[in-house]
Amino acid sequence: MKKIYTLFFSIWAFSAWSQPKIDVKKEFEFAAKQYEGMLASHPDITKFPQSTNPDGSPRDMKSSWWCSGFFGGSLWYIYEYTKQDKWKEAADKWTMAVEKEQYNTGTHDLGFMIYCPFGNGYRLTKNEAYKPIMLTGAKSLATRFDPKVGLIKSWNSFKGGYNYPVIIDNMMNLEFLFWAARESGNKELYNLSVTHADNTLKNHYRADNSAYHVICYGPNGEVLAKKNHQGAEDESPWARGQSWGLYGYTVMYRETKDPKYLDFARKIATFLLNHPNLPADKIPYWDYSKPGEERDASAGAIMASALLELSTYGGKDAKLYYDSAVKMLESLSKPPYKAELGKNNHFILQHSVGHKLGNSEIDVPLVYADYYYLEGLLRYDALRKKKK
Ligand code: GLY
Repeated sequence: MKKIYTLFFSIWAFSAWSQPKIDVKKEFEFAAKQYEGMLASHPDITKFPQSTNPDGSPRDMKSSWWCSGFFGGSLWYIYEYTKQDKWKEAADKWTMAVEKEQYNTGTHDLGFMIYCPFGNGYRLTKNEAYKPIMLTGAKSLATRFDPKVGLIKSWNSFKGGYNYPVIIDNMMNLEFLFWAARESGNKELYNLSVTHADNTLKNHYRADNSAYHVICYGPNGEVLAKKNHQGAEDESPWARGQSWGLYGYTVMYRETKDPKYLDFARKIATFLLNHPNLPADKIPYWDYSKPGEERDASAGAIMASALLELSTYGGKDAKLYYDSAVKMLESLSKPPYKAELGKNNHFILQHSVGHKLGNSEIDVPLVYADYYYLEGLLRYDALRKKKK
């Protein structure tokens, strides 16, 4: 008798797991309509959709801003799902709008700026014109790696007189360098990425597997200070930073197959998913130490996308990662996070936080929340099709 119950329970559990929780087709139809409005309201390709100003007007930024690649990247994701040429054309236009940033050696954000639009465009179209732009961009990014320090420098200075600050966000740029290493045969790009990730693992993380935002280094790689910039305080876990780290170490495992990175990504996931302040809808507060304050949909979207990939690497918590990511995407696919059609300055998601203590972008749409949400939807769709 017990065996029959177990069998019925297993069949029920499997079918519950395999039920579609999110209507991906409907969500991409919505995204496409919303972004048709975004394209119509942005005829000038030097003004990149970023967010909403405090007076409700659209907040646009220049191509040199760290977020300039996300709009083109999102357009590629809509093209990937819809396969409609009009999205390919729009994506190409907003991708090429970032072209000149390939020479920008003043920022560590070239992974976001170049790889999100050009990388997706190249993956989907094999347009050879994108390749040299990306390879130049990767070289520009690599100029910020000082072998004596063993890390890519994030910013050129940081308050307190520090001149080699590295932020956890920087883990997100390594995927771009791995791509460039493969394409160009330049092993140096691979090696410096591994060195950056190893030093970040050593210095950026606390005993509980949460990350500091900023580590300030001296000229020989010595840690001078462990600081906060966009979180609540030096010792608190800033939500988006934790998501960047989770995503970054998941990519490190994908690219190197070194199990230490998989083990570490899982430790970060355990910290986040067991955090007592993670709300039931699994969209984090802007900082894990600030329950009851604003949520950060962007941190939820990045985490969802990362957890879906992490779930594909097996292990005892693979189902937990998958289920948690699906819950996050489900939450983001309805109010209060999902906007009404034609509202929200044409962004898909509401309720993200850019830099609360800097009094900037608080409880607003953010272009990268949309990007990682669409990426998460695509990953969810692909995994569901594979499971069938
Ligand atoms: N510094 C990049 C971010 O806001 O996540």
